[in-house]
Amino acid sequence: MSETFFVTTALPYANGPFHIGHIMEYIQADIWVRFERMQGHRVHFVGADDAHGAPIMLKAEAEQQSPEQLVARIAAGRARYLEGFLIGFDHWHSTHSRENTELSQDIYRRLKAVGLIDSRPIEQFFDPVKGMFLADRYIKGECPKCHAKDQYGDACEVCGSVYAPTELIEPYSALTGAKPLLKRSEHFFFRLSDPRCVDFLEQWLGATGHVQPQVANKAREWLSGKGEQALGDWDISRDAPYFGIPIPDAPGKFFYVWLDAPIGYLAALKSYFESGKARANGETRSFETFLTAADTRQVHFIGKDIIYFHTLFWPAMLHFAGAPYRAPDNVHVHGFITVSGEKMSKSRGTGISPLRYLELGMNPEWLRYYIAAKLNANVEDLDFNPADFIARVNSDLIGKYVNIASRAASFITHHFAGALEYPGGTAELTQRARETLEQVQASYAAREFSRAMREIMAFADRVNQEFDARQPWVLAKDPAERSALQDSCARALYGFKTLTCLLAPVLPALAARVARELFGLEHPLSFADALEPPRHINPYQHLMRRVEPKQLEALLEAPPEKPVPETPAPSGATPPPASTVAADERSPPISIEEFKKIDLRVARIAAAEHVTGADKLLRLTLELGTETRTVFAGIKSAYDPATLVGRLTVMVANLAPRKMKFGLSEGMVLAASGPAGGPFLLAPDAGAEPGMRIS
Ligand code: MSP
Ligand code: ZN
Repeated sequence: MSETFFVTTALPYANGPFHIGHIMEYIQADIWVRFERMQGHRVHFVGADDAHGAPIMLKAEAEQQSPEQLVARIAAGRARYLEGFLIGFDHWHSTHSRENTELSQDIYRRLKAVGLIDSRPIEQFFDPVKGMFLADRYIKGECPKCHAKDQYGDACEVCGSVYAPTELIEPYSALTGAKPLLKRSEHFFFRLSDPRCVDFLEQWLGATGHVQPQVANKAREWLSGKGEQALGDWDISRDAPYFGIPIPDAPGKFFYVWLDAPIGYLAALKSYFESGKARANGETRSFETFLTAADTRQVHFIGKDIIYFHTLFWPAMLHFAGAPYRAPDNVHVHGFITVSGEKMSKSRGTGISPLRYLELGMNPEWLRYYIAAKLNANVEDLDFNPADFIARVNSDLIGKYVNIASRAASFITHHFAGALEYPGGTAELTQRARETLEQVQASYAAREFSRAMREIMAFADRVNQEFDARQPWVLAKDPAERSALQDSCARALYGFKTLTCLLAPVLPALAARVARELFGLEHPLSFADALEPPRHINPYQHLMRRVEPKQLEALLEAPPEKPVPETPAPSGATPPPASTVAADERSPPISIEEFKKIDLRVARIAAAEHVTGADKLLRLTLELGTETRTVFAGIKSAYDPATLVGRLTVMVANLAPRKMKFGLSEGMVLAASGPAGGPFLLAPDAGAEPGMRIS
C-alpha cells in the first residue's frame, strides 16, 4: 500500500540560530524524506520554531524587545541554513501561532473531559523583585551535600548530587540575586500515573516499530520507575509572567512550553494544509481527514535528550485526546554529533558553525554525504573528525563516484559523439544494479544510512575495477578495439547512472545536475532510472571539487571576534572570512554606560612598518596628542605601510596592553570588513586632531 508520511524534526528553540546538531538532525530526516519520495510515497515534511518558555522571555527582555520580536528575528535567519544545506521542509511554522493555541487548548479540554487533568497547589520559589516564580535553573545557592557555592537549584556541578531547590543553603535568584520566597500556587497536572496511561504506554512501547528497542527500554524504565519512584504526574502549567499559551478558564495560567511544543508539529501541519501547500503537494484531503486516515504515518525525528517527552507524554496526550489525534507511528531517535570527540558547547565556541561552513564555500553535499556515511539507526553519537571527513569526501565521493564519469565520459564524447552502446549486452549489468538497488533501498528505509553508503561504494568499486581492467586508455589507441572501448565506457556510465540514483537522497543537487546535464533526463530521478541503461550522454562538465585540508582548518578555527585581529593567525590558516552581520548574529544591545567604557580616540599614524616573521601584521606607531602607542594591526593584506604614514584613524585607547610574539601591543585600530572585502581602516572627518575623544 502506498503510504502518506507526515514527517517532522524536533522544533528548535527560537532563542538562537541553528547549530551543527540541528543541521545533522535535519540532514538525517531530509535524506529519509527524499528516499521515501523516490519510493513513490507522498511525504509532508514540516518544521517550526519552538517559541515559548521562560528562557526566550528572559532573553527578549534582556535585549529590550518583545519575545515576538526575538522569535521573528531568529526565524528570519532560518532559510539561509535550510537552503544552504539543501534541507527541503515543505513548510516552516511557529508554536506561537493561532493554530497551536487552538490545538493545544483543544487537546487540553479533551484530556480534562476524560479525567486526566488534575489541579492542586504547590509551593515554589518566587523572586519578589522580578515578581515571578523561578524554575530550578534560575535558583542558585550552596550545595546541601558538599557546600560548594553558587550551584543550580536541581543539581550540584561539583559533587553531582541531585536535590530540590528548597534544599539549597542560602538560595538566591539567579535573575536578580534576591532571596526567593516560598509561595503557593495552583498548578495543573497531566495524570500520567493514571493506570490508563501506564497501560496504554506499555502497549504502545511494546508494539514493534514505534521506537527503537533501546529507546523502548529506556522509556519502560521511566514508566516503571526502576530504581526511583514510579512516574509521577506531569506539571503542565506555569504562572504569569510567562511567554506561552493561556490555559482555558484559568486566568494567569499558561501551558508549560513542553506541552505546546509537540502540539506545534500538528500546528505546523495544519498551517501547511491551510496555506494550500499540501494541496500543491498532491494532498486533497482536509487536515482532520488526513490525520485520521489509515494510510497516514506520523513520523518524528528527534535527538536522544528529548526521548522522555516524545515517548511518554506525547503519545499519551494524543491517544487520550482522541480522534483526529492519535499516537505517532514512529519516533526515530538519533545520537549527538561531537566534534573531534568533544561535546559541542555553544558557550565555549567549539563545534562547527554551519554558517561558517557555508561562508567558506564548502559544499553542503560533502557534509550530507559525510553524515550519511556515519549514521545508523541506533542511538549512537556521531563524531565529526576532520581527517575522516577529508578521506570520505575525497576518496569515496570523488575518488570512487565522481571520477567514473570524469574518466569514462570523455572517450564517449570524443570517439562516439556521445552515443552509448553495449555490444556485450546489459542484462547482467542490470541484474547487478538491481541487487544493489534492493539492498540500498532496504538500508535507507531502515535509516541504516552508513550501510547504504557502504553498499553504494562497493558497487562503485566494482564499476571502477571493471573499467580499469579493460584499460580503455589503451583501447582508445587501437582502431580495431573501437567496439570494446565503447562497451567499457558505456558500462561504466551505466554504473554511474545507477550510482547517481542511489545517492540522490543524499546528494540531491548533484544528482539533479547529472540527470539533466550529463544524461539529458527531463524528469526528476526515480529508482526506476537506476536500471535503465543510458543511450546517450552530453559532454562531461566538472561536477565536484575535492575538499582541501585548509578549508577544515578554517572551519574549526575559533571564529574571528574582532574586525582587526590582534594576534597573528596560526600560520597556514586562511584569513578569517569577512564577517557578515546576519539578522540572527547581531550582538545583543548594550547600555550607553557599557559603551562609554570604551575609550575611543583619534590617532595619527606616525610610522608603519612590516614585522619580520609576521605575515598578517603591521607595526603602527600612533600619536594620541600627548603620548605615543605601538599597536600591531592585522591589516598587512590590505595596506602598503608607506601609504599609511600621516593618516588619521580611530583607536581603542584603553584596551589592556597585550604581549605578543613581536612585542607589546598597546591598543587596537578599528577597521571594517564584510563580504565585499576589507579590512578598511576608519578615518575621521577633516578637523579632527590626534587625541580627540570619540563619543
Ligand atoms: N525545543 C525542543 C524540542 C521540542 S520538540 C517538540 C528542543 N530544542 S533544541 O533546539 O534544543 O534541540 C532541537 C533538536 O536538536 C533536538 O532533537 C536535539 O536532540 C537536537 N540536538 C541538539 N544538540 C545536538 C547534537 N549535538 N547533535 C545532534 N542533535 C542535537 O530540544
Ligand atoms: Zn555538591
